[in-house]
Amino acid sequence: MTKKNKIKAIRGMKDVLPQDSSLWLSVEAICAEILSDYNYQQIKTPILENTQLFARSIGADTDIVSKEMYTFEDRNGDSVTMRPEGTASCVRAGIEHGLFYNQQQRLWYAGPMFRHERPQKGRFREFFQIGAECFGWPGADIEAELLSLTAQIFSRLGLKNTRLELNTLGDTACRADFRSALIEYLHDYKQDLDQDSLRRLDSNPLRILDSKNSEVQQVLMGAPDIHEFLSAESNEHFLRLKSYLQQLDITFSVNPRLVRGLDYYNDTVFEWVNEDYGAQSAVCAGGRYDSMVEQLGGPPTPCFGFAMGLERLIQMLQEQGAEIVQRSEPVQVFIVSIGEQARGQALRLQQLCCAEGIRVQLYCGSGSMKNQFKRADSSGAQFVLVIGEQEAATETVGIRSLQVREEQQIIAQNDVVNAVTNRLESL
Ligand code: HAM
Repeated sequence: MTKKNKIKAIRGMKDVLPQDSSLWLSVEAICAEILSDYNYQQIKTPILENTQLFARSIGADTDIVSKEMYTFEDRNGDSVTMRPEGTASCVRAGIEHGLFYNQQQRLWYAGPMFRHERPQKGRFREFFQIGAECFGWPGADIEAELLSLTAQIFSRLGLKNTRLELNTLGDTACRADFRSALIEYLHDYKQDLDQDSLRRLDSNPLRILDSKNSEVQQVLMGAPDIHEFLSAESNEHFLRLKSYLQQLDITFSVNPRLVRGLDYYNDTVFEWVNEDYGAQSAVCAGGRYDSMVEQLGGPPTPCFGFAMGLERLIQMLQEQGAEIVQRSEPVQVFIVSIGEQARGQALRLQQLCCAEGIRVQLYCGSGSMKNQFKRADSSGAQFVLVIGEQEAATETVGIRSLQVREEQQIIAQNDVVNAVTNRLESL
């Protein structure tokens, strides 16, 4: 194949290579451990869903639904979409399996999401999220619990310079009043708005609030503030959340411009942002979305959740040089062998040791004893097991340390697991 027609990964989608995968494993394991400590249960949903699911939950006017979804017809002519996020799928699954009838659920999920965005640092077309969704709690206590859980994850991973931005969008009635006031105000400044904001003016005006355009930001200086429109209930809810966060020692700032890019939120919304990370600074985000379950045909169910972007999280940890206990540990035993009979026995010894949780690397392929020993030396293993033709014939094996000079000892192959276990324990 010529250089020109070599097949590469699709733009915006990337491989996680062995040098990074152990960090991924550690991060995923730490998140899973903390979620389990807080009593969340994992749910797995398909990557492909009916397109309608996202159009009806995320909002037809959002960038995600209008421009970014990987949507195509399957072989039956049905419109399917590769999930752009996990929340709608959790709700769909919960309704389908009756998880919301007289029950409360703390769920979490992990997996790839797909959005056809313009790729840049921290923004991909395939990215991984770990998220959690709570169903059945209307109060601020569950929100504080989830924020505490996310803070715990950052602290356990050693992620620094991450701060919490918080806002409330109020309930449906106060948001409608605010929306009208905002449209009225912005109509007077139409000439100062950019194309994006003009497009959103009547369809999704709240999204204009987080415009990055400096002229639009100037206009927004005098715009109405959602906090002046809050109902007594929404106000009380937000005050309670802030008080819980103070008790938890979680610092936050209220950002009245924080509106989020998905339409399903009401009341509390939040983002954990990293100071040093430029445009794509949100590492974790979420909020309350009390109408989605009903909107998708389920019983009225209050919901609150978050999702964390793993690429961003891992890149931040790497750039900060965070010291995380890596899951992939070096092998403990290396096996060298010469001859067919010996190779079969080596395979059997590897199987027996691995069954006992001992990490073993077998030399595979052809190679002189000298080459095999070279590999054994560079493997980082504690011990080498040697099966030459003579050991194969007598069902014995040579064992010696790769870390300190010592004579090779010959033992019966039947005793290998015990001998290796004892020697590893006495290190
Ligand atoms: P989101 O803000 O769209 O919310 O995404 C959550 C996180 O996923 C972001 O903060 C970011 O870390 C990561 N992320 C999003 N898009 C990309 C991308 N193109 N490349 C890399 N990372 C990305 C949601 O997805 C909601 N489902 C969160 C939620 C759960 N709300 C309630 N429950």
